[in-house]
Amino acid sequence: MEPTTYIWLDGEIVLWEDAKVHVLTHALHYGTGVFEGIRAYEAANGTAVFRLTEHMERLHRSAKAYHMELDWSVGDLTKATLELLRANGLESGYIRPLVFLELGALGLNPTNARVRSTIVTWRWGAYLGEEGVRNGIRTRVSSWRRFSGSAFPNAKATGTYINSILAKMEAVRAGYDEAIMLNEEGLISEGSGENIFLVDNGVVYTPPIAVGCLDGITRNTVATLLTEDGYEVVEKTLTRSDLLYCDELFMTGTAAEVTPIREVDDSPVGPGQPGPITKRAQELFSDAITGKLTTHPEWLEYV
Ligand SMILES: Cc1ncc(COP(=O)(O)O)c(C=O)c1O
Repeated sequence: MEPTTYIWLDGEIVLWEDAKVHVLTHALHYGTGVFEGIRAYEAANGTAVFRLTEHMERLHRSAKAYHMELDWSVGDLTKATLELLRANGLESGYIRPLVFLELGALGLNPTNARVRSTIVTWRWGAYLGEEGVRNGIRTRVSSWRRFSGSAFPNAKATGTYINSILAKMEAVRAGYDEAIMLNEEGLISEGSGENIFLVDNGVVYTPPIAVGCLDGITRNTVATLLTEDGYEVVEKTLTRSDLLYCDELFMTGTAAEVTPIREVDDSPVGPGQPGPITKRAQELFSDAITGKLTTHPEWLEYV
């Protein structure tokens, strides 16, 4: 990662190298942090952050799940993000807000620990590679189940990502690009850091949030855009055999954007190349993030 000049930390813009914490930070020991992943793009009228307010609202919801009292409102955090992007002179990039428990307690009841907040930005390309975005990625169904009953699956908490990390590492070490995770009942949940969509006979399906996948903002964006484009988009529980017999599969996420899946467990998805609805989803998403699409101006917050 290429450092930028500044980081936002508890209301102040500080130098990158000065944003440090103590080794007794509660979140380092127990994963008591919540975070977001957001992207800024070069759009029609300059640099714009995609669905910034919704990401900061989800950060607040994640904090609520773990009883973390933020000092900053959604408005404060969106303003801070735009200021930081300006200070760093970034035309596009990734944005990582993080709220975490620091000093004040080191037991399992962190009520007295100080809540700290930071926002970091940096330049970042395609998460699953340019080649993956063009031709599709190879995936495998993970041996690790996506948790649902043991924590809040819909909160982006740092500690729970150890589950996604196990799945991702297992997939990559076995030579695949990404993992597909089943939930504890064996239903398709999502990727290690992406939601999943399936196309069958022209209809687009994605698992409902109730299976324990994240309520992804890109998932919502793509479902909205495809529906407005005339496709039928249905939330439905999906099984492992649906992956084998469908026509198209793709993943969505702020990092992964819209990435086609060309293989699951060494079997080709459809003809083994990105299909027409996947490509249409990529096109619509690209138009939305760059401001070419005029139907959702509220999704872009200009720097
Ligand atoms: C587990 C998981 N699922 C799905 C997503 C996609 O969510 P979004 O589109 O809001 O980035 C992410 C990324 O935040 C994630 O970490």
